[in-house]
This record gives sequence, C-alpha cells and structure tokens, in this order.
Amino acid sequence: MEEKKIKEVVKRRYAQIAKQDQQSCCPSCACGISPLSQAEAIGYLREDLDHIPEEAVMGLGCSNPTAIADLKAGEVVLDLGSGAGIDVFLAANKVGSTGRVIGVDMTEEMVDKAKGIATTHGYHNVEFRLGEIEKLPVEDKSVDVIISNCVINLSPDKSKAFHEAYRALKPGGKLTVSDIVSKGALPDEIKNDPEAWVGCIAGALEQQEYLKKIKKAGFGDVQVISSKEFYIEGKGGKVIKKLLSITVKAYK
Ligand SMILES: C[S@@+](CC[C@H](N)C(=O)[O-])C[C@H]1O[C@@H](n2cnc3c(N)ncnc32)[C@H](O)[C@@H]1O
Repeated sequence: MEEKKIKEVVKRRYAQIAKQDQQSCCPSCACGISPLSQAEAIGYLREDLDHIPEEAVMGLGCSNPTAIADLKAGEVVLDLGSGAGIDVFLAANKVGSTGRVIGVDMTEEMVDKAKGIATTHGYHNVEFRLGEIEKLPVEDKSVDVIISNCVINLSPDKSKAFHEAYRALKPGGKLTVSDIVSKGALPDEIKNDPEAWVGCIAGALEQQEYLKKIKKAGFGDVQVISSKEFYIEGKGGKVIKKLLSITVKAYK
C-alpha cells in the first residue's frame, strides 16, 4: 500500500475510534472486555490506572512501555502516537510538576480528545501536539525519554520515525517502545489489506528488521525486554501464527 493511502486510512479509523463511532481492540490482547481490563491484560497495574482519567484508557496499546521507562521526577517525556493519552497521563504522574510530557498524534480527533481530558482533569504538565512521528514537532535533543505504544507498526516509514526519535532525544536519552512485529514474512493478502494495516498487523515488520532499523537510526544497547506471541484469524478463518507483541528498550 502506498504511503499516502496508509496515512489516510489510519487517520480515518482512529478519528472514528476517538469519537467512539467505532469499537477498538488491540489485536494482541483479549477482546470483549472493558478497556481497563484490557489494559491490565497487557501489563498495566490497576493501582496506576486508578490514578489517571478513565477516558484516556481505550484499549489501543499492545503492552506497557511506561513500566520499563523508569521515569524520574523532572524528566521531559515524549509519547509517539499518544492516542487519548493513557501513557502520557501515567508518565505525567511519575515526572511530577517539575517534569513535562508531550504527546504527538497525527489524528486531530485523538489530539482534541486528549487535550479535553487534560483540561477536565487539571493536568498542567502535559501537552498534546498534532503531528507525525516521521516529522516530529519537537526540537532536537530536547527530550529525556521517548515512549510509544502500538504505533510504529502503523507507520509507512519506520526508519524515518526512529531517526526522528533519535534526533529529539538528549544524548544518553532512552527509548521504550511496545509494538507488533512478525516472526516471518506475512502473506501478501494481509500486507495489502487496509483493514489489517489499521488493525496493527499488516505494517508489522519482521523482528530482526525492526531492531535493525532502531540500530541504524543510531541507537545503542537495543534490548527486547518482553515478547509475547499471539494469533489472529485472517481471511476465510485462516489462522496467522506469526505475530509477536514486543517491548524494546534502547539508548541514544
Ligand atoms: C493503536 S493507537 C495507540 C494509541 C496509544 N499509544 C495507546 O496506547 O492508547 C495508534 C495511534 O497512533 C496514531 N498514529 C498512527 N500513525 C501515526 C503517525 N505516523 N504519526 C503520528 N501518529 C500516528 C493514531 O492516530 C492513533 O492515535
């Protein structure tokens, strides 16, 4: 699928999800349960979720990148593809009033939703910016930690996204990403299916290729912290067994 088309279908779908015209479900966790239970199923702690606005939890992530980010008071954090802000609000509670968390998302409706939640709940240390992860609206070397949850698989240019992340981080800064990758090449009928792209499947790279792109952007000490296999049902009920939900940590 061509880059422009991918961005269009992804934006259209996440705009519907933001307005809750469309049900959402992360492909790597249990569907048919509440977003809060889904979040717990992929590694979020209830005691942390109880301290953020419930509307920010939409069941769109694939694991918990904030859990391994070891955030400290005063840090500046950037969330790539922040959605309704689940990880932004969790990070904001950790960095406190001396820190700051910036969420970037290319879907206007998501950014508006997250901004509204921040205002309603009085969060002063968060900011949501409309923008693409391949061209981050963030200054060079201005961020201590980058987090991202189930977003980079949706990007048609993952190398650019990792280069941008590297540019935005301060030297010594940390990247923690949860994402979907594959164990082998996915069938063409999946790769060319727009539904499978917005569902975080078709854009999944093979794990080695994904890690190579992170290293090529300049990152060092690239480690896979967790990895969980899952299956999906493809067209005609065919089971696709090649998917993994992984969490990766790397340093600039
Ligand atoms: C699966 S949702 C994850 C949202 C959030 N990280 C969470 O865990 O709830 C993907 C989000 O990434 C955004 N997104 C997808 N591709 C993007 C891109 N290239 N640049 C910026 N945002 C993007 C979508 O608009 C959507 O809000």
